Amino acid sequence: MKKSVRKAVIAGNWKMNNTPAQTTALINEMKPLVAGADCEVVLCVPFVDIAAAVEAAKGSNIKIGAENVHFKASGAYTGEVSADMLVASGVEYVVIGHSERRQYFGETDQTVNLRSLAALNAGLKAIICVGETLEQRELGYTETLLKYQTKMALTNVTKEQLKNVIIAYEPVWAIGTGVTATADQADEGNGFVRAAIAEAYGADAAETVTVQYGGSMNAKNAEELVSKVNVDGGLIGGASLKAADFSVIVKAASEG
Ligand code: PGA
Repeated sequence: MKKSVRKAVIAGNWKMNNTPAQTTALINEMKPLVAGADCEVVLCVPFVDIAAAVEAAKGSNIKIGAENVHFKASGAYTGEVSADMLVASGVEYVVIGHSERRQYFGETDQTVNLRSLAALNAGLKAIICVGETLEQRELGYTETLLKYQTKMALTNVTKEQLKNVIIAYEPVWAIGTGVTATADQADEGNGFVRAAIAEAYGADAAETVTVQYGGSMNAKNAEELVSKVNVDGGLIGGASLKAADFSVIVKAASEG
């Protein structure tokens, strides 16, 4: 199976941006621009914006995601949100293990795995982030690290559940820095992720998994990035906050 049978997924990751009112306005602006896209269009928004986002996206091709999920079903976990709560709120996707969560909030490969299992068991689609730092790249550990992070994240995930898994390869040095990986580096990194999935689940299963690139993907570089065989769309931070830029990326993925 080749790229042509994997549906590209363009997912915006708003991070800590936009109030509910701004959410409604931005989604209303985006809707006509991305209507008819030949790729999956997702916006992952802060928890407090979910209700507004779900309402604004109703009847459109935009799916709503969250930016994190806790691994327990309920209980004394102040500040956390469960997978069932997300599902009940109309959320279909969730970002897990973003490098900012790993860097600033103590996320580990183990908690990424637990969150992924919770999300998948609840029927959510999990966008699991992996990626190397500049130091790890320079030391030559990129392949080892990407394979390790991918396999750790997928521990105990069944082959059936793999259908709801998206892996986002996001080199840490490219996130929010304006420094994008070259298309070849993105393709290579995504290839390492796919190879790890193949080692764990077999080559056929690996060919069906969507592997995104993320890290300073924008309206100018998206076309070249998504043209690569292993790049099945992107996880977009900064450029997902502007309707015009985001829609250009969606268009590139629709044609890629
Ligand atoms: P960026 O963020 O596009 O602003 O680099 C990507 C991400 O963090 O997912």
